[in-house]
Amino acid sequence: MRVRAFAKINLSLRVLGTRSDGYHELRTIFQSIALHDTLTIRARRGAFTLTCDDPACPADGTNLIYRAAAGLWRAAGRRGAPRDVAIDLQKRIPMQAGLGGGSSDAAAALRALARRWRVGEAKVRTTAAALGADVPYFLEGGAALGLERGDLLFRLAEPPARWVVLVLPDFGVSTKDAFAWFDRDRPAPQEHELVNDLEAPVAARHPEIARIIAALRRSGASHAAMSGSGSAVFGLFSGRETAVEAARRLKASSRRALVTRTLNHQRYQALAAT
Ligand code: C5P
Repeated sequence: MRVRAFAKINLSLRVLGTRSDGYHELRTIFQSIALHDTLTIRARRGAFTLTCDDPACPADGTNLIYRAAAGLWRAAGRRGAPRDVAIDLQKRIPMQAGLGGGSSDAAAALRALARRWRVGEAKVRTTAAALGADVPYFLEGGAALGLERGDLLFRLAEPPARWVVLVLPDFGVSTKDAFAWFDRDRPAPQEHELVNDLEAPVAARHPEIARIIAALRRSGASHAAMSGSGSAVFGLFSGRETAVEAARRLKASSRRALVTRTLNHQRYQALAAT
C-alpha cells in the first residue's frame, strides 16, 4: 500500500502568548500543497522496520513515523513494540523547513496503519495529538484554522487555488529554536492578519529569509512569507508562468526553488491514500 504525505505552508501564523505546558498559543492558517513524500507499507514478518531514501532522514526510533507506529500499536491494545510491518519512506519534503514533512509522514502512517490494524478514528486522533502539535492538521488537510497549540482545528472556506514558489535556503531551522528566539526578541505585534510572527526573529538570525521574501515580491508574488518556523519561504502566484519565471530567477541567483500548487481539502483526502 502506498500513501502520500503532503506538505503544508502557513499562510499566517500569529503567536498569541505562552502556555503553562511550554508551548505557545497560536492562531495559524494551514494550507496543503502538492509537494509530498510517499510511504510504502508492506506486510513483513518480524520487528517493525523503517527505511528512507534520504540518508539525512533518521530511520530509527526518533523518526515520527516510528513513534506513530508505536503509539498506534499501544492504542490498539497490543503489547510490546510494533511488528510485521515495513515502511519505506521516499523523502521529498525538505526537513527543518517549516513545511510539516515529519508531521505529515506521521499522519500518513497513522492513516495507513489504522486501516491495517483496525483502529478507530478517535484513537487515531488521540495518537496524532500526542505526536506533535501539527500532526492532527495532517489528518484533515486543505485550508484550516489552527488554534491553541495549532491543534484545535476548524475547516476554512477554500481560498482560490494558487501556484506556490517554494524557496529552500541551505540552512534549516529547528522549531524549538524559532519559538525560543521569538520569546527572546518579543517582536512588536503586527497590524495585518497575513503575518508570520516567527519570521522577524528567524530573519534576525538568518538575513537570507528577508532577501528571499523581497525577491519573491519583486517577481510578482501576491503574498510572500516564511512558512511555519522556517527556513522555507513561499510566494503565492495566480498564474503558472509568473510562478515558473520567479523560480527561474531565484535559481539564477543560486537558490534552491521549486514550483507547486495549493491543494484543497477534497483533493487532499482523495490523493492522500492511493
Ligand atoms: O509539537 P512539536 O514537537 O512539533 O513542537 C516542537 C517544538 O516547537 C515544541 O517543543 C515547542 O518548543 C515549539 N512549539 C511551541 N508552540 C507551539 C508548537 C510548537 O512552542 N504551538
